[in-house]
Amino acid sequence: MLFAVRNPHLGIQPQRVYAPIWSTFYERWKLNGRSMPILQDIGSCAVVHVRFLWGSSSLVKLTLETSCGNKKEASTHMKVNLDHQVALVTGAARGIGKAIAEALAANGARVVFADVDFAGAQEAASGQPNSVAKLMDVTNASQVEAVVGEVVDQLGGLEILVNNAGINTQHHRVTIEEFPVEEWNRILEVDLTGLYLVSRASAKAMLARGSGRIINIASVAGLVPLRLQSAFVAAKAGVVNLTKSMALELGPRGVLVNAIAPGSILTDGTKKLFYGEDGLFAEKVQQMLAHVPLGRPGTPEEVAHAVLFLAAPESSYINGHVLVVDGGWTAGYMREF
Ligand SMILES: NC(=O)c1ccc[n+]([C@@H]2O[C@H](COP(=O)([O-])OP(=O)(O)OC[C@H]3O[C@@H](n4cnc5c(N)ncnc54)[C@H](O)[C@@H]3O)[C@@H](O)[C@H]2O)c1
Repeated sequence: MLFAVRNPHLGIQPQRVYAPIWSTFYERWKLNGRSMPILQDIGSCAVVHVRFLWGSSSLVKLTLETSCGNKKEASTHMKVNLDHQVALVTGAARGIGKAIAEALAANGARVVFADVDFAGAQEAASGQPNSVAKLMDVTNASQVEAVVGEVVDQLGGLEILVNNAGINTQHHRVTIEEFPVEEWNRILEVDLTGLYLVSRASAKAMLARGSGRIINIASVAGLVPLRLQSAFVAAKAGVVNLTKSMALELGPRGVLVNAIAPGSILTDGTKKLFYGEDGLFAEKVQQMLAHVPLGRPGTPEEVAHAVLFLAAPESSYINGHVLVVDGGWTAGYMREF
């Protein structure tokens, strides 16, 4: 639903924007203690044009043009220098992967949006600087090898791999004795075997140059198991240990391998499943959020910022680490004893 809002600080005509998104942006700005410097710089000039660049779930860039001919830009994205680096992000058509790919592109990387949903990947990559889309099913070993080969040939190398593609079960929230074998295999194949296949192909390209970063998107469920998701928790625990094993094997040869363990993140998919009005698990999610010290889900951009940190050239002594991005969910118990 669109609302017309007027920002008292801008003194411009009402803009039609998503009010909740605007307020998230504005609140975040205030939280960052920056108090919108972009607005202070305008002086007595009138704002004649405002442009909003939307990320997956929130506003990432605000551009103002003034009557004095100035153009001011402000971004909520973290800044690191990834100029000229080639990054491959799996599962980049939507959700967390899309936000990660956008953040890498916004920081100078040449980004490959890879997904089994090619049309979605193309749409996500379009409009992003220096970005291309590739069809890649992470479970298809020969396709994975071919796509990584194409990336190296066409873009001149591969410096950053983000293994983000992942699935979970929606309809089989059942205990282990009921858990269908087909569902177990389907989830393990994408979440764990797929990650192995893309890492395997990419590591060869990175080792040939003696440098690279592999960042695996695990889950807090890989650290602290949940009930009724046996395949997902097993796969993600596998990702955590595989990350460490790869760090031992590849680190000495210049390829640093780390993981990120997100907690509950608000995407279009989880909105339908958990947070939306007809969220399948809405009630359970309220119980879960009561256990999260920050009391809210994270945004895809908040996961993307953790990726930027691990991908940054300055993060050169971090290898085999699992960075939890969960609002404190796994820090301990919120309830009083
Ligand atoms: N959303 C959360 O709350 C949350 C929490 C913890 C971990 N994660 C992890 O983050 C990652 C992204 O999650 P999301 O919520 O954005 O998911 P999503 O379902 O919104 O997006 C997943 C993307 O992966 C793609 N994909 C699925 N199977 C694929 C395959 N075989 N090959 C290539 N691409 C494939 C899909 O097409 C989709 O674009 C996953 O690994 C997930 O387990 C998510």
